[in-house]
Amino acid sequence: MTQLNRRTFVHSSLAAGAALSLGVRAQAAPNDKIGMAVIGAGGRGGSHIEAWLNDPRTEIRYIVDVDEKKGNDRCRQIEQKQGKRPELVKDMRQVLDSKSIDAISTATPNHWHALCGVWAMQAGKDAYIEKPISHNINEGAALVAAAKKYARMCQVGTQCRSHAAIRDAMKFLAEGGIGEVKFARGLCYKRRKSIGAKGDYPVPEAVDFNLWSGPAQYTDPKVTRKQFHYDWHWQRLYGNGDLGNQGPHQTDIARWGLGINTHPQSIISYGGRLGYQAERKDPAYVDAGDTANTEVSIYDYGDKCIVFETRGLDVNNSDDAELNRLFGSDSGNKIGVIFYGSEGYLAQTSYAQCTVFDRDFNKVKEFNGGGDHFGNFLDACQSRDAKSLHADAWEGHLSAGISHLGNISYYLNEANTASVEDIAAVLKDVKSLDDNGATLERTVKHLQRSQVDLGKYPLSLGKLLKFDPQAETFTNSPEGNEMLTRNYRDGFVCPDSHGV
Ligand SMILES: NC(=O)c1ccc[n+]([C@@H]2O[C@H](COP(=O)([O-])OP(=O)(O)OC[C@H]3O[C@@H](n4cnc5c(N)ncnc54)[C@H](O)[C@@H]3O)[C@@H](O)[C@H]2O)c1
Repeated sequence: MTQLNRRTFVHSSLAAGAALSLGVRAQAAPNDKIGMAVIGAGGRGGSHIEAWLNDPRTEIRYIVDVDEKKGNDRCRQIEQKQGKRPELVKDMRQVLDSKSIDAISTATPNHWHALCGVWAMQAGKDAYIEKPISHNINEGAALVAAAKKYARMCQVGTQCRSHAAIRDAMKFLAEGGIGEVKFARGLCYKRRKSIGAKGDYPVPEAVDFNLWSGPAQYTDPKVTRKQFHYDWHWQRLYGNGDLGNQGPHQTDIARWGLGINTHPQSIISYGGRLGYQAERKDPAYVDAGDTANTEVSIYDYGDKCIVFETRGLDVNNSDDAELNRLFGSDSGNKIGVIFYGSEGYLAQTSYAQCTVFDRDFNKVKEFNGGGDHFGNFLDACQSRDAKSLHADAWEGHLSAGISHLGNISYYLNEANTASVEDIAAVLKDVKSLDDNGATLERTVKHLQRSQVDLGKYPLSLGKLLKFDPQAETFTNSPEGNEMLTRNYRDGFVCPDSHGV
């Protein structure tokens, strides 16, 4: 169905003569460079472009962006470095049948990732897809199936997978470097200010909003956020909050270090979008975002456990002595993973650094160094060895899945606001290798430091979900199962794993 849509589109647009130059280009003899199309040329797309420009194996032949201005700026930048200007198109379907393209890399907003990847692989292209690889669980499964069915290289943009520091540290963990490790805590303590008041804002003139919306609901050319680009991260129609934005880097490392190769069996989250009334000094203020900026998610994997903490407010952690020892500072953003072993701790404190501590928090070892994740993708495109990919679709699916499952628990019960005491009482019975009470206490302290009046703006306690990791369905929540996919718009339907 999807392939049909894509093909129907290409044929009709060719017939209309709209893509005449594309037709000519598609006949061009491929040379020995890997022909790239970069799809989504915003902030992160710029990093993709830089990587391809710096690798002599590639030539950027197309830029796809629904924002003509951004696309043109990127084309100019590429022409200066590459000596050849890529062609700019707005609709990715126009480039997918081009023989001059061997691979795509995509840095569109999250709601487009999976459909773009599925279409690309159906068209025989390899695909580098930004994290989170999907906007929902079924999309991740579809990408895994498509990569297998069409024998394509599919790399997800969790670049830490290629960084020497993280690779060496994960090996050290697997070899028992800090003893037995069953519990990891992922942190996204990253200040996120309000994105502005909810309202009706025009879509920028240069943007084709129908194409931008794609698989998501079309909101009749207006949006409710002031800044069109980037801030979609905090609107659930398109983004996945910070649990699904920064989160997939850390959930991926946590899962990797614990040696977990499946989904969790049960999940519960609590949190809210809090603190912006105090930030704006207006008790009636309504921020345009609708994802949690404060969220704790507990994932039970049977004998192992991951807890992920998202904090978007105050990042002064001066009262958290343990954390400050592990991260070496008592203020500022803290983004990373802490592994708790029987003989010590391992803290991933940046994209290219991990530190090992003994049980008394004495530093005993450090791992440093980055790597070339884009290069690893190109190596695999050339060797055709999917096993050589450092972050294939399956890894991307599991790690993005952690965010999706945590968010579903929260979304399902968003209206279920509760007192801290009531949440503590429920968490007492939630199976976890964490001290659930202590984590809640720290979260509450953080909110109080940010002047959140929890009496007036309480936390929501999510639903305790039971998940069947093989069937990829909840066993105790029909409403939750509906959130494993979305209602797609005609022409932008991401097939499920059986339909790719
Ligand atoms: N791996 C990393 O470290 C990393 C870092 C930053 C962002 N990201 C990911 O990259 C993605 C993009 O983030 P960003 O900050 O660049 O967002 P952005 O909003 O600044 O840029 C997105 C771009 O995609 C374009 N776009 C939207 N729909 C499109 C479509 N259908 N076809 C072609 N272009 C389309 C937009 O016009 C815009 O130029 C996100 O999914 C984000 O999670 C990854």
